[in-house]
Amino acid sequence: MRPSPGRPTWLEIDLNALAHNLGVARQQVGADCALYPVVKADAYGLGAVAVTRALRTAGAQGFCVAMAEEAHKLRANGIDLPIVLLSGFIPGLEHQVIAMELEPVIFDLEAARRLSQLRGSAAPAIPVHVKIDTGMGRVGFPARDLCAVMAQLDALPGIRVDSIVSHLAWSDEAAGAETTRQQLHRLHQAIAQLGPRATSLRRSLANSGGLLGHPATRLDWVRPGIMLYGASPFYPHSNFAAEGLRPVVRWVTHILSIRQVTAGTALGYGHEFVTPRAARIALLPVGYADGYARMLKGRAQILTHGQRAPVVGRISMDLTLVDVTDIPAAKTGSRVTLLGAEGDGFIGVEEMADWMETIPYEVLCRLGARVPRHYTPDLP
Ligand SMILES: Cc1ncc(COP(=O)(O)O)c(C=O)c1O
Repeated sequence: MRPSPGRPTWLEIDLNALAHNLGVARQQVGADCALYPVVKADAYGLGAVAVTRALRTAGAQGFCVAMAEEAHKLRANGIDLPIVLLSGFIPGLEHQVIAMELEPVIFDLEAARRLSQLRGSAAPAIPVHVKIDTGMGRVGFPARDLCAVMAQLDALPGIRVDSIVSHLAWSDEAAGAETTRQQLHRLHQAIAQLGPRATSLRRSLANSGGLLGHPATRLDWVRPGIMLYGASPFYPHSNFAAEGLRPVVRWVTHILSIRQVTAGTALGYGHEFVTPRAARIALLPVGYADGYARMLKGRAQILTHGQRAPVVGRISMDLTLVDVTDIPAAKTGSRVTLLGAEGDGFIGVEEMADWMETIPYEVLCRLGARVPRHYTPDLP
């Protein structure tokens, strides 16, 4: 581990835990289903290049990103596995799709025509993935139109439909089980209407929730995201440990200074917190510019010397206050864990999501760009 010079706050990303979590996915889907981890949004904030390399070594067979810019970063760093563009591409980006050999998800015929026109019939055809809306209500051709859509796509030179894909709307809660069943049924029905044409097509439906909770949705290739990063898609109904997943992120900072204050001292912006007793208040060099959200005020705890201490007062852009009165060992320079394990204590992304009234996905995606990411084992 190499802390950044001059930076008292960093993220430690455990690549072995990431590989373990991919192994959980592999165990669930078996050998015949391909794993295409979702590494969009900088691999949910953890650093797409390092994460993607580690997942490739651990057995990923392709990757999914949202947009061409994200794919560019991966290709520029030597990732040569298939990259699926989940959110398609706007006019003007066809050149990039072709140059980087990306595999776009297609949900409008115009995009397919643009790509076909540029590719022409001479070159090897570009694999594309046709998205149908089986109930998510967001993007995709209506499932009932699949036959007509396929007829048009098959007539276009330069592109080749690799798979039919759809996305689950409610795979993360027991209440959504019927919706998931209906979505799977609509996908099967739409594909069945293609007759013999269907035999050469792959199918993909499952995200983490589908993969872990609805075995029938696994099909030919899956798109796990959040489970790889150490959180359960079913939280709060389950958690990472119950799913056999390992936490991947640890967020570390250090006490910048400690002040002894008297009872009745108002702390920070808006004087929102007033000490009810004489207190030792630690100053942490981390704030909302780092992704330590203002929502955490009055709710979050940190770990230092293996004990929990509460965040007090408003969180500011670069600084946060913590009441360490009950932790006499805490001193300037003491290590503080905002997320992850310390001693017997543990603060997970799931717990932090509760404090922020959000989901673990958002906790990870909001980890600030200025917080350095360090990886174990060290990157080559
Ligand atoms: C189309 C698509 N597939 C798969 C995923 C991965 O979902 P999860 O992180 O829940 O596994 C996402 C994430 O938003 C997505 O948009």
